[in-house]
Amino acid sequence: MRILVTGASGHLGYHIAKRLVSQGYKVKAFIRPTSFRQHLDKLAVDICLGDMLEKDSVLRACRGVDAVFHTACIYDLSPNCDTKAIWATAVDGTRNLLDCCAHEKPKRIIYTSSVETIGVSSDKSITLAEDASILDMPYAYSRAKVEAEHLCLELSKRYGLCTVICNPSTIIGKDDYKLTPSNAMILNYARLPLFYVDSGQSIVDVEDVAEGHILAFKNGREFERYILSGDNIEIKNLLDVIKKALGKRMPSMKLGRRLFYAAAFMSEKLSSLTGKGEALLTLTKAKKMYQKYNYYNSQKAVRELGYAHRSLTDTLPATLSWLLNRYGKKGNR
Ligand SMILES: NC(=O)c1ccc[n+]([C@@H]2O[C@H](COP(=O)([O-])OP(=O)(O)OC[C@H]3O[C@@H](n4cnc5c(N)ncnc54)[C@H](OP(=O)(O)O)[C@@H]3O)[C@@H](O)[C@H]2O)c1
Repeated sequence: MRILVTGASGHLGYHIAKRLVSQGYKVKAFIRPTSFRQHLDKLAVDICLGDMLEKDSVLRACRGVDAVFHTACIYDLSPNCDTKAIWATAVDGTRNLLDCCAHEKPKRIIYTSSVETIGVSSDKSITLAEDASILDMPYAYSRAKVEAEHLCLELSKRYGLCTVICNPSTIIGKDDYKLTPSNAMILNYARLPLFYVDSGQSIVDVEDVAEGHILAFKNGREFERYILSGDNIEIKNLLDVIKKALGKRMPSMKLGRRLFYAAAFMSEKLSSLTGKGEALLTLTKAKKMYQKYNYYNSQKAVRELGYAHRSLTDTLPATLSWLLNRYGKKGNR
């Protein structure tokens, strides 16, 4: 069986491709001519060059494949991100893919969405499931993911394509050569585990999410959404787990709302004045975080797909060691 993976140079796409190869599938890895590919070159995949925004190249990629895993997207939450490119890649790129699939008719499409399309809660006792819709979309990325998922479902139904949607939460793990915002968050906490705010995340290992996609390919029902999440954890407890894994003993201080917003404002100003890299914290990010809980449950995926995720204490040490080794113990990326 021949499978196309878009975004195969990316953190998740690479892990999906690697896992598919290890399970005996023939993989066509769709990447851009400019994509970092040293890791991918070590896998037994066929490289197919193109761009989600160039329809001819997408059509070439779709030719003769039995299934498609569509992960390609620009995942960028920085204040100076290219909002038009984010929208175009997510929305127009998805439209291009589905138009080409309407022509080539693969038996199955696994579309990578996000929990951004489910929402976020201010109540930490609540874990959101697929039927929730408490959207908070301060980022161009969030808005693009919501529109792209909607379009993906609409076109799949119109074209009679068997599409399954995966909605991962915050993905961490090794082999992340561009450093996604999710791994950057972990790296920043590892470098400076001094401050925290009331907030929480659902953190999942990339290998579990990759396997979840493959389970969705094998067992998922068409047009259904499946949350692929991990442990729900407050930032304070996350810092404790990180410090324990790194053998650090310093205390961490809780920041109140005013101080947190002021720190975010200063961090943003400082980085735009010095022009030195991306701000560690921005006001948008601070508002999206403060007393917000991105807590999800994957019971539907567990029940219907056979999905399982490992615990954060099992996955963090390897992630931390890979990130600190690759990006260093100090720095702004
Ligand atoms: N990481 C998370 O926490 C998380 C959580 C939920 C959902 N997701 C979703 O997971 C998917 C993969 O994200 P990731 O975390 O693996 O991010 P990533 O490492 O940045 O990977 C993104 C991939 O998309 C490719 N891409 C971007 N624009 C493209 C274009 N115009 N044409 C072709 N390929 C293009 C990138 O290629 P280049 O290498 O050339 O840039 C890269 O391979 C995305 O759909 C994202 O929304 C991620």
